[in-house]
Amino acid sequence: MKEINASEISKNMIQMIKKDWMLVGAGEDKFNMMTASWGMIGHLWNKDVMNVYIRPQRYTYEFMETNDTFSCSFFDDSYRDALKLCGSKSGRDIDKAEACGFTTNFIEHAPVFDQTVCTIICRKIAVYDIDPSQFIDASIDKNYPLKDYHRVYTGEIIKVLVKD
Ligand SMILES: Cc1cc2nc3c(=O)[nH]c(=O)nc-3n(C[C@H](O)[C@H](O)[C@H](O)COP(=O)(O)O)c2cc1C
Repeated sequence: MKEINASEISKNMIQMIKKDWMLVGAGEDKFNMMTASWGMIGHLWNKDVMNVYIRPQRYTYEFMETNDTFSCSFFDDSYRDALKLCGSKSGRDIDKAEACGFTTNFIEHAPVFDQTVCTIICRKIAVYDIDPSQFIDASIDKNYPLKDYHRVYTGEIIKVLVKD
């Protein structure tokens, strides 16, 4: 893997997040990760940032709450089944890294996997909850039949690693 600046990411990030999906992970001594297809990358508060959206019932939520950094990991298509598993099983019940055959390391106290094509490591700088009273388009609420509004984690991008 080689390190690049966030502004050097040449991939189409909308496609990578919505179509290829990513794993959002946090923790070190104990860690967890889950599949996410909602997220944002951009520039805010004079920093390169990434937003991830985690519903409160996810096991990953507990790790996002208690750790200062998190990782967003992107894979090629051959890991689609692994991402499906990480998006349907909870780390409360299985060891997802082992089930997926991932080799895990830790950078900036966040989990990174040898199998990725791109890893973005973020330092948590802001946390806020989606507030339905602020929806202008009422149809957004259809995403929340359980009223389990996401918590938004804004992370400053501190490291971007891409496959050579
Ligand atoms: C394609 C896909 C995208 C997902 N995107 C999100 C997301 O952005 N936010 C979220 O909270 N859950 C999302 N999920 C659901 C979690 O990945 C899923 O509930 C997972 O099992 C949670 O694992 P955990 O309990 O180990 O954290 C997504 C699932 C899939 C399959």
